[in-house]
Amino acid sequence: MIVCLCQGVSEKRVRAAIQAGARTRQQVTATCGAGDGCGGCHRTIKSMIVEHLRREAAAAQVGTSECCPPRVSSAVV
Ligand code: FES
Repeated sequence: MIVCLCQGVSEKRVRAAIQAGARTRQQVTATCGAGDGCGGCHRTIKSMIVEHLRREAAAAQVGTSECCPPRVSSAVV
């Protein structure tokens, strides 16, 4: 899917820019060119950044969870 019609930049390329560290619309534009035109895709790019950051935060939360893994009792098995 094309995210930026002005520059012909695909969703895949925008996601790659974000994955590579772009955290603002301007950084995405500098990395892959998306958003360097009419501005019609700016909200989509920002949403993609927010979505990525939420996923990162959720993954980090799982990684630092203080919850203990379930124990398998040898008496039960
Ligand atoms: S659609 Fe991306 S700048 Fe116009």
